[in-house]
Amino acid sequence: MERTLAILKPDCVQRNLIGKVIEKIESSGFKIVAMKMIRLSKESAKGFYEVHKERPFFNDLIEYMTSGFCVPMVLEKENAVEDFRKLIGATDPAKAEEGTIRKLYATSVQENIVHGSDSPENAVKEINHFFSRHELLG
Ligand code: CMP
Repeated sequence: MERTLAILKPDCVQRNLIGKVIEKIESSGFKIVAMKMIRLSKESAKGFYEVHKERPFFNDLIEYMTSGFCVPMVLEKENAVEDFRKLIGATDPAKAEEGTIRKLYATSVQENIVHGSDSPENAVKEINHFFSRHELLG
């Protein structure tokens, strides 16, 4: 079993898409083992997206991720990291495959509904960014 970190981003929450996205996640075989609804501080968002700090979109990304509430969650499944990346689709929804969450719901490369960890190593770091051990099921 592997774990990955997902975040339902502020556009997902503001557009009342939490239920639809969670339905897709659960029906694709992922078990939700932790979940919370929070508003990220600037410091926390900057820490989370540290790898992107030199990118031209960094400031906009921090504004967007702190613009409203989001829903981080920990998902468990065999091959969870890779399978969840497949389920969400390409960062740019215009390039995402049919049936993926971003193809279905995302409106732009920035407002792309959902985040998924890109490697098992980053999944561990990202899970620890949001959750302590006693908040995880099992
Ligand atoms: P995410 O998978 O969370 O990782 C970085 C985020 O930066 C990405 O989703 C988008 O929300 C945002 N972003 C905005 N512009 C770009 C871009 N040009 N390339 C990649 N990510 C971008």
